Amino acid sequence: MNDLTRLSALAPQTEADPALSAFWMPFTANRQFKAQPRLLARAEGMHYYTPEGRAILDGTAGLWCVNAGHCRQPIVDAIARAAASLDFAPAFQMGHPAAFELSSRLVALAGKPFSQVFYTNSGSEAVDTALKIAIGYHRVRGEAQRTRIIGRERGYHGVGFGGMSVGGIAGNRKVFSGALLPAVDHLPHTHSLAHNAFSRGQPQWGAHLADELERILALHDPSTVAAVIVEPVAGSTGVLVPPVGYLERLREITARHGILLIFDEVITAFGRIGKPFGFQKLGVVPDLFTVAKGINSATVPMGAVFAREGIYDAFMQGPATAIEFFHGYTYSAHPLACASAMAALDIYQQEGLLERADELAAHWENALHCLRGTRHVIDIRNIGLMGAVELEPRAGAAGARAFEAHVKAFFEEDLMVRFTGDIIALSPPLIVQKDQIDQMVERLGRVLRALD
Ligand SMILES: Cc1ncc(COP(=O)(O)O)c(C=O)c1O
Repeated sequence: MNDLTRLSALAPQTEADPALSAFWMPFTANRQFKAQPRLLARAEGMHYYTPEGRAILDGTAGLWCVNAGHCRQPIVDAIARAAASLDFAPAFQMGHPAAFELSSRLVALAGKPFSQVFYTNSGSEAVDTALKIAIGYHRVRGEAQRTRIIGRERGYHGVGFGGMSVGGIAGNRKVFSGALLPAVDHLPHTHSLAHNAFSRGQPQWGAHLADELERILALHDPSTVAAVIVEPVAGSTGVLVPPVGYLERLREITARHGILLIFDEVITAFGRIGKPFGFQKLGVVPDLFTVAKGINSATVPMGAVFAREGIYDAFMQGPATAIEFFHGYTYSAHPLACASAMAALDIYQQEGLLERADELAAHWENALHCLRGTRHVIDIRNIGLMGAVELEPRAGAAGARAFEAHVKAFFEEDLMVRFTGDIIALSPPLIVQKDQIDQMVERLGRVLRALD
């Protein structure tokens, strides 16, 4: 696998292994992967291990999600105990104690004004659930005309029809453009190399971009708008950190028009930027927020929506025997997911992991910004333990350079990085040590210098 000749080009170099053909891989260049597989066989702590035993330093916490580090024994044990004692319990008209205990713990972690949690199995489902809660909330309060949702360019909100519609990634939407939700509009994104390149933390320029919301609202009539949804820090399109004052303005405008503000915290929740939840770090409180991934350090699929006081209460109408919200999933609050979430929370709290990104932020920032001046690098951005290194696109081949960096990092440097367009994204498990941060940056630097 370390044969460097395999790395010189990304075109398939070998015949695809027929054993790999049946798995239609998600968000993957299937043909390239199957000709040059990057297989992970096991994991522990900060590392993945390939089938032949190479240790790969995990620069991405899997997919922004393994916040406690890999294969933590207390989580493994909790899942095993749950599987042996209550394998499944329906959450429709029935309940199990762990679901209620977890909810109380999560609500306490979020603090006031958050008072209820609705469970899903993924971030995408959490987003679609949040949109449905928002629209339903207005309806049960007599404002049924509020059905429009405003998202943002370069937002990623998963792949359900709701999330895809409010999301702002052209490539994700193109094929389905005729089938997206109709009552949606988008704010402009906040990324600007001209104004903000090499910002450290929140950039100074760009708060005024939130004022575009006023224009969009005037266009549609604010009384038709149910919610605005944004990631507090856009992750999947390359770590776009909110400009100073930007989220505050969104909050002010939405509140003034009676519109719910939804933060999609699927990446930023559970310690990624230095507090349990991103909104706590950024100081702007939404009405609803979504989580997934880090909720149980990604060990069992799970997502959730947190609702501010008053939202649940608004639904509690009609006969007490009537279902108040016609929504839910077979696996909502699955016992294994709840058990793993509580075990992850224990680890997070015992090891101070939900604040650790704050402690490491300065080291992380300085280490990443050492790559300034490295070949191809046109921007570096960071917040908490999230970071992005943006590369100059290769002429006529947008995205190729970062993709090649991802492959090279894996085969030549035993490092896992993510790429999106021509941006390398990094988000290590929250247990990362300073010397491992330094190693990541050194290895990435070597990869970049060796790239065409
Ligand atoms: C902000 C955000 N929302 C939603 C999602 C979708 O989550 P999932 O892949 O669990 O459906 C993601 C995934 O990366 C995300 O980053």
